[in-house]
Amino acid sequence: MRRRTFLQSTTLLGLAATNQQKNFVPEPVIIATWKNEKGTKAGWDKIMQTGKALDGVEAGAWVPEADPNETTVGYGGYPDRDGHVTLDACIMDHLGNAGSVTFLEGIMHPISVARAVMEKTPHVMLSGAGALQFALEQGFKKENLLTEKSKKAWEEWKKVAKYEPKVNIERHDTIGLLALGKAGEIAGACSTSGMAFKMHGRVGDSPIIGGAVYCDDEVGGACATGLGEFVMKTLGSFLIVEFMRQGKSPQQACEDAIMRIVKRYKYQEFQVGYLAINKKGEYGAYAIQKGFNFTITKHGVTQVIESASYMS
Ligand code: GLY
Repeated sequence: MRRRTFLQSTTLLGLAATNQQKNFVPEPVIIATWKNEKGTKAGWDKIMQTGKALDGVEAGAWVPEADPNETTVGYGGYPDRDGHVTLDACIMDHLGNAGSVTFLEGIMHPISVARAVMEKTPHVMLSGAGALQFALEQGFKKENLLTEKSKKAWEEWKKVAKYEPKVNIERHDTIGLLALGKAGEIAGACSTSGMAFKMHGRVGDSPIIGGAVYCDDEVGGACATGLGEFVMKTLGSFLIVEFMRQGKSPQQACEDAIMRIVKRYKYQEFQVGYLAINKKGEYGAYAIQKGFNFTITKHGVTQVIESASYMS
């Protein structure tokens, strides 16, 4: 082949490969922190219905939010030390839009209020009484979220009233979700009742964009669970997405973000777990303590997978 023809054909091959990469659309997938099969299945079904990752992560969060036996999310969540169930949630889409609520009381599905903040206001975050007022204006119903079980646990806790974050509380904690929709677009969500018996007014990482959730459609997304103070202080999900932007795999990015906490804050008697997914649909997970797991639904099949951890 003459040199010029050779160069022309290799350039064309290179262009075809780049176009192929550009046109690559991964299979839809949804992953969630902890054992959340019903949540990821509900999210998967939603993605199959509407095609959208955003609908999937919202539907996935609804399941633990409405489950009275989940003591770390929504209805049935353990209250703060004054007996109030206060909720934090956030959601982010592939266009970089984001919404969140903090310190919200009496609303079963804070994730949907966060979505309404994103879609119907010029703001990102609403808090406390203002978030509740907005929710009621949007037609959400005010309900009592403190169940008998949670009330009893709080009354027990009050006998000693010791500050004690629990690692892997009931092998469940804050739900974080990431999904790729039918167009390969990314979305993420997070919902929690926060740390059990926290100080009244305490807000964790779950409503913090870049803390509990971050998505960038050029790169992928990340979400967090565990003791929010350390996720907030290192802006974990944003950090993971930026690590992936630098070329790290989702697994490596999660590990490096955990190591950031471990190295900077020597105290390790608490749990933080991260999940990440990139635009190819590759995912990773890592935690400080063992016991963290996550759930994935892909091709309609759901699996719970144990995460690797820094502490063995
Ligand atoms: N990760 C939830 C919280 O700390 O509130």
